[in-house]
Parts: sequence; C-alpha cells; structure tokens
Amino acid sequence: MTPPTQDTPPAHNVHTEYETVFLHDHQVQKEDMQRLYENAKRDQWNAATAIQWQNPVDVEQGFVADELIDIYDSPYWHKMNAAEKQEMNRLFSAWRLSQLFHGEHAATLVCSQLTNVLPDADAKFFMSTQVMDEARHTEFFQRYLHGRVGLVYQQSPAGQELFDHILGDPRWYIKTIGLQLVGETFAVALFKMLAETAKDPLLREGCRLILRDESRHMGFGMLSLPQQVQQMSPKEREEIEDFTIHFLRNTLTGGFPKDAYLDMGFNNHEIDQIRQLRRDKAQSSDFILFRQLFKREMHHTLVNNLFKCGVLTPPIRHRLETELRIDVTTNLPGD
Ligand SMILES: [Fe+2]
Ligand SMILES: [Fe+2]
Repeated sequence: MTPPTQDTPPAHNVHTEYETVFLHDHQVQKEDMQRLYENAKRDQWNAATAIQWQNPVDVEQGFVADELIDIYDSPYWHKMNAAEKQEMNRLFSAWRLSQLFHGEHAATLVCSQLTNVLPDADAKFFMSTQVMDEARHTEFFQRYLHGRVGLVYQQSPAGQELFDHILGDPRWYIKTIGLQLVGETFAVALFKMLAETAKDPLLREGCRLILRDESRHMGFGMLSLPQQVQQMSPKEREEIEDFTIHFLRNTLTGGFPKDAYLDMGFNNHEIDQIRQLRRDKAQSSDFILFRQLFKREMHHTLVNNLFKCGVLTPPIRHRLETELRIDVTTNLPGD
C-alpha cells in the first residue's frame, strides 16, 4: 500500500468583472428577506467551540459509513483485511469531505461577490451573513480534515469547473441559481445523509450544525429568484435552462474519488472497473437504503425548488426526465 501523496497547489485565480451596486438607502423593502437576516444573526455558532474537537477518533469505526464506498461489498472489499478497510474508509472520507471543504470555500467567495452585485439592501444584508456561515463551514472541514482525517484532496475538475463558472459570471441570478438553487439543494441532501449515517459522532454533529445554516441559504434562493425569473426574456430563460441542466449534470455525476483509490494502491485498470461498479450500483435497485433515501430526498427537494423559483419550464422538465432521469411528475407538488 502506497502512502497518500497529495501535491496541493496553494491557489488558482478566477478573472471576474462585475458592477458593484452601492445603495444610498437601506430601508427594509422585503420583510421575508429581513426575517431571514434576523434568523441568521440569531443562529450563529462557533466552529471552534461548538464541536468537541478534543474527543479522539475511533479509527475502527471510520469516518463516513463503509456503505458509501463504491467498492463496499464487492470482491475488492472482501479481499481486504480489517486494517485495509479502515484505510480505505479514511481515504474515501478524505476525498468526499475535501470536495465539501472546497465547495464551502467557493461558496464563501461567491457570497462575498453577491454582497456587491445584489441590487437590494435586505438581500445584501442577508448575504453578508451567508459569507460568515460559509467561512464557518469551511473552517469546520479544514479542522476536521487536518485534525482528524489527516489528509486533504484537491478539488475535483468537475467541482472546479462549476465554481469557476459561477465566480466568473457577473450576474447575481446566475450565481444564485448555481449556488443556492443547484449547489445547496445537493449539499443539504448530502449533509442530511451524513448527519444520520456518519460513523464519527463529531462529523454527524458538524453536519447537523451546518444544516441549520443551509436551510436559510436555500431560503434565499426561494425568496430572490422567482421575481427575477418571471421577468426574463425567452432568450435568457433558454440560457438559464442550459446552465441549470449543465450544472445539475456536473453536480450529480461529476465526482469520482480516483485519487483515493490510487492512494489505496489500485492500478488504473482496477480503477476503471471500480468506476463501472459505481455506475452499475447507481442504476441498480439494490442500492442500499440510505443512498436510496438520499437520492429520493434530493430529487424531491430539487424538483420542488426549481418549481418554486419558476425554473421548471416544460423544456427543462423534459430534459430533467430524459437527460438526467429525474422523475419530475411524482416529485411535483399537486401534480
Ligand atoms: Fe455551506
Ligand atoms: Fe450554504
């Protein structure tokens, strides 16, 4: 077994140009948004003190549930001894949680841009709180990966492409569709699953705390997008349809923890087989129960949120069903 070798570049730059809206009046205009801001101030927590960081890791238990690992219950898994299974759990968890860590950092950057480009005072105030929330989530994963897992992986190319696009686009509603509508709907379902199934109680607790913030963030998308989407021209609608499908596909299918399998000592041929195993598992009905629940919950929330924001037009509905195989009809409220 080779030791993990991660060469993490310190940073990359994204070129961005946008208009900063400097308001001369900060009167409350949207009561709902103001309420969300008040809730955010009330519900702040401290990632340094709210978590029992001093509690030791139980490596035998692992970090995330073994059942999340693609090779679980396959011949590869059965060939491993107990120590190898523990190491596989550590590497897989490091990769999965590293993607969340990079996503949280990207969210901090997107939200800080949004405080500039958003046109309303209430939205700017709320967004300032989301900058802090996302910084706190980044801190949680930074502490967790460094202090407990002992390894941070690079952001996957799919994740980087998604966030670089969101950061580079000047329009607030493209940033909000990308982050608060698509990204956070996925993140909320994932955090819920981890909060219930992770083996490390400290990871469960962190995900529970993060979830308290994430529901407000999804709420921002629900409050800000419908009016904007209603005013769009057919051409703009077409653009956001393409954008939404592209990012959904990227989010749903983008990440494969190749580096974790390489670090575990698998060769490229074996990794291709593992990739196929993953595809087969995703399509089979004997997907373990909590992964089925995750998928169901994610699709349900996604369809509902797209519907509420007015993005679920007939063309996008058709594309969700045919291209991404998301069952829109059974997930639609009152359909
Ligand atoms: Fe977050
Ligand atoms: Fe968030």
